[in-house]
Amino acid sequence: MTLRKFLPVLATSLISLPALASEVNVYSARKDALIVPLLEKFTETSGIKVNLLTGKAGALLSRIKAEGKATPADVLVTVDAGNLHRAKMAGVLQPINSRKIAGTVPKNLRDPGDFWTGLTVRARPIFYLKDRVDVSELSTYEFLADPTWAGKICIRSSSNIYNQSMVASMIEANGEMITEKWARGLVANFARKPTGGDTDQLRALAAGECALAIANTYYYGRLLDSKKPADKDVTAKISVFWPNQSGRGTHVNVSGAGLVKYSKNLAEGRQFLEFMVSDEAQNYYAEINHEFPVSTSASASQTIASLGSFKADSLNLGVLGVNNSAAVMLMDRADWQ
Ligand SMILES: [Fe+2]
Repeated sequence: MTLRKFLPVLATSLISLPALASEVNVYSARKDALIVPLLEKFTETSGIKVNLLTGKAGALLSRIKAEGKATPADVLVTVDAGNLHRAKMAGVLQPINSRKIAGTVPKNLRDPGDFWTGLTVRARPIFYLKDRVDVSELSTYEFLADPTWAGKICIRSSSNIYNQSMVASMIEANGEMITEKWARGLVANFARKPTGGDTDQLRALAAGECALAIANTYYYGRLLDSKKPADKDVTAKISVFWPNQSGRGTHVNVSGAGLVKYSKNLAEGRQFLEFMVSDEAQNYYAEINHEFPVSTSASASQTIASLGSFKADSLNLGVLGVNNSAAVMLMDRADWQ
């Protein structure tokens, strides 16, 4: 077992050890089950030992900032372009400088300044209750603010970065004034006060608490793959709708990673990121969490492929971070709790 987790107390002492073998220290905001098998595979093929520290996105960023030049972190793995942008703006990342990554990951899924790259893609479409909504009634995110949907929409709180990024994409498409008006209309259509995560919205939808819900695709994928009768009941009652197909496309986001500015194992960190965009890693990574690969030569899980193809918004995801604070303030003004 070459993979080991270091305890917080050990983290700073690691850097005083002489480099006996090549290694890379990864700070990750992803669940261990999603990433550990990949780290093991990387060690197997490269001989580079991986030390993993798992934590919440915000806590990991604060930690890297606090550790400053002494940080043992080489790579930061996190979710949502909004969080990746925060890390970039906090000055804890450096340009990746990898031809392999630039040649594999589409440009709109990478930071324009090369400070982070997407590793998997998720979409945030509309889900509907089949016996209450006809698909012909659905069209765009914008139309969710129409009074037609009064009291019928379930969505999680505005403190969630997925919603902040979705609103950031709308600011880019429609401007702040129109988006604020939209957010007020959306809030007026809420079926209930925002509560719980994306899976909770899908469960509430199936239970008839709402007619529409917004959630990331992988939460739906997990329910579709679940053997639990309660989850099968949920997926039997709901379906996915890809909004904005005749316009900019459905909102997408990424999980991603960057190289830490004060990395002591820069070559190994870069090699690790290059491994993460290889077909082998991409197929596994996309499969296990029902996300879409960033590499066009890798394939999505059967469950996710069964949702059908759709047009994704091709906006550069760096914009989601740039527009984040405007989105947060706008949602606040619209009383989106
Ligand atoms: Fe998530």
